Amino acid sequence: MAILEVKDLKIYFPIKAGLLNRTVDHIKAVDGVSFQIEQGKTYGLVGESGSGKSTIGRGIIGLEKITSGKVYFNGVDITSKNGKEIRKNLQMIFQDPYSSLNPRKRILDIIAEPLRNFERLTKKEEIKRIEELLELVGLSKESMMKYPHQFSGGQRQRIGIARAIALKPKLIIADEPVSALDVSVQAQVLNFMQDIQKELGLTYLFISHDLGIVKHFCDEISIMYKGRYVEQGTKEEIFNHPQHIYTKRLLSAIPDMNPSNRDKQFRIRKKVQQEFDQRYHDYFDSEGLAYSLKPISETHLVALQEDVQKVR
Ligand SMILES: Nc1ncnc2c1ncn2[C@@H]1O[C@H](COP(=O)(O)OP(=O)(O)OP(=O)(O)O)[C@@H](O)[C@H]1O
Ligand SMILES: [Mg+2]
Repeated sequence: MAILEVKDLKIYFPIKAGLLNRTVDHIKAVDGVSFQIEQGKTYGLVGESGSGKSTIGRGIIGLEKITSGKVYFNGVDITSKNGKEIRKNLQMIFQDPYSSLNPRKRILDIIAEPLRNFERLTKKEEIKRIEELLELVGLSKESMMKYPHQFSGGQRQRIGIARAIALKPKLIIADEPVSALDVSVQAQVLNFMQDIQKELGLTYLFISHDLGIVKHFCDEISIMYKGRYVEQGTKEEIFNHPQHIYTKRLLSAIPDMNPSNRDKQFRIRKKVQQEFDQRYHDYFDSEGLAYSLKPISETHLVALQEDVQKVR
């Protein structure tokens, strides 16, 4: 059974206007998204800025009101009750290590927050747990008494990770966990996340706009565009057999580090852009939105107009 199952999730934000502040329209940040994640796997959610990635993560952990759809955690519908006990198993690492830690709180209180919400520990037990967590993320015991501004970005993200794993959750939603960090520190934090995944048997929902990182880190991948999925499949399917023109365009934009491939990459990009322009209406409706996903194999789904497969 999947540890997480999301069914036709919609999250709309009202747009208000006028003197009476009436709702005149909605931003469809997430517009009918479905997926599941198997225990112990890493599921990548990719898409350009504003495509709705963070909103999905925030909706799942209950930080954003869901307009419609269902979220099941280990088969239990967590949208229908407040399910505090279940939420304990679901934690989030936030996108920006600079703003996600309260600057007025000591590291001790930041990491202890989830523990205080869910477990009754004595002061001594709490200190011991926090020492263990700091050690696990590679920070000294003394860090406990310091404040967020006394740490670097990479260290802050480790503090965010320590907080996220404090309750030994089963699933962690990692929202661009390294995008604010230097490339050299990115690898460190990602390796560390992989180590604790093995150690604690974690499942990740990994949000990123960096396909290079996703290729290295994720088992299954979905590509999002304007609140909808355009394609979903295994890493192999997405990287070696992309089907949607939007996926192809994202892949062709990954920079090739080898300078002798520059001409080849330029030609590929040009070809992909041509296909994008010529076949746009096979892949996007009159509002420029993706069609619903259709399976082309057991694991590979692509958003296509009904009759496109026949046209080919
Ligand atoms: N609280 C909110 N109120 C109104 N609109 C919102 C709110 N939160 C997000 N949005 C809108 O929803 C859309 C999706 O935002 P979201 O933050 O999920 O994107 P994202 O894919 O995480 O982007 P990024 O890569 O920049 O983090 C955007 O158009 C955004 O402006
Ligand atoms: Mg985001």
